[in-house]
Amino acid sequence: MDAAFFDRWSLEYDEDVIACDEANLYPFAGYRRTLETLLNEIQTKPGARVLDLGFGTARLTKKLYEIGYNISGLDFSPEMCRIAQEKMPKARLFCFDFSQGLPDVLKDKRFDIILSSYAFHHVPDSLKHERILEWYSVLNPGGMMLIGDIAFLNEHALTLCKGDVGGEWDEDEDYMVFSSLQPAIAHLSPRYEQISHCAGILTVHKV
Ligand SMILES: C[S@@+](CC[C@H](N)C(=O)[O-])C[C@H]1O[C@@H](n2cnc3c(N)ncnc32)[C@H](O)[C@@H]1O
Repeated sequence: MDAAFFDRWSLEYDEDVIACDEANLYPFAGYRRTLETLLNEIQTKPGARVLDLGFGTARLTKKLYEIGYNISGLDFSPEMCRIAQEKMPKARLFCFDFSQGLPDVLKDKRFDIILSSYAFHHVPDSLKHERILEWYSVLNPGGMMLIGDIAFLNEHALTLCKGDVGGEWDEDEDYMVFSSLQPAIAHLSPRYEQISHCAGILTVHKV
């Protein structure tokens, strides 16, 4: 899915996603629980500097912005950027493709929270561990990386979901499979929590 796809989806995105979650359907079953869980985790670090990768309509980040968090973010859809900037006028938002790396302007910045909700599946599998290592490098000691997304503990769980949804399965997405990703980032001691049959959260703490 390219930026133009998300530009077109931006006005209906919130409604579509909530309806899918309420019906407990792939791909957004567990969406609100995932965002609530992320929010609760982040609130253990009041006023933190947050970098949100793929902020979309800023559904989650706006809540943090309103209670005093310092928000930076990347999203490659100009429409999503416009909507989010309107909701968070003082946030430092950049229209940028995060799958290839961080923009120069952020490489020397440091954050307490690296957040990504429902966007990591747009990073190709072959680049996922590289992105995690790069994002980890801009985390402050004591900081935390939280990636909530359509995700599975292992290939078996993914195959079960794929079988259940049949023709609805989106072959273009690279959903995170924790057991496949874990070896390349094992030295970061990642934790994974399954939130619904198709949603999960990867957490990495920086000591
Ligand atoms: C499904 S939406 C998730 C939005 C929001 N984080 C949420 O939880 O509702 C995915 C977002 O990631 C953005 N995105 C997808 N691929 C991207 C990429 N390669 N670089 C930057 N943004 C990307 C899209 O424009 C979209 O806003």
